[in-house]
Amino acid sequence: MHKPMPDEGRPVDEISAQLEAFKERDPHYKDGRVWSLVYYLDEEHSEFIKDSYHRFACENGLNPGAFKSLKKMETEVISATADILHGTPEVCGVVTSGGTESCLMAVKTYRDMARAERRVRKPEMIMPTTAHVAWFKASEYFGVKIRLVPLKDDFTPDLKKLQKLINRNTVMILGSAPEYPHGTIDPIEAMGEIAQKKNIPLHVDACVGGFILPFMEMNGEAMPRWDYRVPGVTSISADIHKYGYAAKGASTITYRTLDYLRYQMFAYQNWPGGVFASSALLGTRPGGAYAAAWGVTQYFGKSGYRQLARDTLEAVNQLKAGVTAIDGLEVMGSPVGPLFSYRSVDPDLNIYAVGDQMDALGWQVNRNQYPAGLHAMVTAQHLKVVDRYLEDLTTAVAAVRANPELAKQGGAATYGMLAHVPLRGMVKKKVLEMYSEQYRAGGGELDLASGAESGIGGGQGKGLIDRLLERYVDRQSRRAALKRQG
Ligand SMILES: Cc1ncc(COP(=O)(O)O)c(C=O)c1O
Repeated sequence: MHKPMPDEGRPVDEISAQLEAFKERDPHYKDGRVWSLVYYLDEEHSEFIKDSYHRFACENGLNPGAFKSLKKMETEVISATADILHGTPEVCGVVTSGGTESCLMAVKTYRDMARAERRVRKPEMIMPTTAHVAWFKASEYFGVKIRLVPLKDDFTPDLKKLQKLINRNTVMILGSAPEYPHGTIDPIEAMGEIAQKKNIPLHVDACVGGFILPFMEMNGEAMPRWDYRVPGVTSISADIHKYGYAAKGASTITYRTLDYLRYQMFAYQNWPGGVFASSALLGTRPGGAYAAAWGVTQYFGKSGYRQLARDTLEAVNQLKAGVTAIDGLEVMGSPVGPLFSYRSVDPDLNIYAVGDQMDALGWQVNRNQYPAGLHAMVTAQHLKVVDRYLEDLTTAVAAVRANPELAKQGGAATYGMLAHVPLRGMVKKKVLEMYSEQYRAGGGELDLASGAESGIGGGQGKGLIDRLLERYVDRQSRRAALKRQG
């Protein structure tokens, strides 16, 4: 519905009340029923990051020479990050607006480096199928072709196949610590050896793990090496707005040396507005996000983050044990860090139907595809809801066993059918069509009643796309039925 700007400004109280009212139908993340979208701990921490953000909400990090405060905070955040990632003093980097920006920047950097140093004209990047969707976005945006490495049965990439994909157009190799779909840490040491031998940069996507795996290791947990201690690793992305518990809009991209980071920079000297240079994707950069990111690293310090890592791992271990104890369910692969996924190993137990039952019980459970599963991105906050989650999961499984028809209804039916739509390009086309429709001028209010946008495969909650796809699948099956009737 088209809504014009008010002719006259409105009183602050009225606006604040309205803003609060807007929240009414949002996910209730404070009670620990939401996973992956929000990293909430408690009101004290929440108020602290809001206050830090507030103090710099108007300041702009566009020009590092102007707001020296922001540049100082950025430098300190980067050196704190390099510290926990075991970087040498040469490790340098930039604070970005989020994991996606960090991933995009790595692809731009290595594409431009290969162009400049090796005259590569048709750049390619090699990554496991489980790499985050941000890398697929980067590939589209920057014209770098993806060469996908298939997984072995243990959910780790097949390194023999990886080696075969390397050619003179390869500009980078990517590994994750951990990957989003199943929480597996890719074999970074072995990948580092390959990368070094072939003289190809290796980026580690630690957007999820960067601010928790180091603290788990400091707590004495056994952990494969994946950071700057691995010689072949040339850069790492690590998000502060995930397990760093900063305000939204803060990630880091660091490089082993400035020789790599230089290729991330942009400059244009002939613009009538003046000579312009920038270090990452954004122009104006939000001072508030920098301040909250800096503030939170000081607020927790290593000991605070170690405690959070301890609580998170306790929750993860209890959840994994509880899921494994339920007949018919299995944890996928061998996840090490804060997240894991589980699937059904019983053909009569449809995992998506279990997900639907969990949604009905008030949880916002994310779905995986290829293979079908449910996802849990666990935070310290979830420790207090573990028992409730497992009780409800037991109830959900029992409900699906008692009524197998549930597999043919709701989200389960959608996902089931979608997995069998042979033309994947059609699915993409439909999603793009329907997604764009929501942004038509004055476009209808989005129905966010069941929570977040996004959806299938790496999706954050059953949301908009799922409902759009349900409509699509419904239409397809109606058409098929009509055809059958002649
Ligand atoms: C491994 C990984 N990389 C990158 C991203 C993208 O991060 P953001 O959502 O902050 O853009 C995510 C998000 O979940 C992720 O899990």
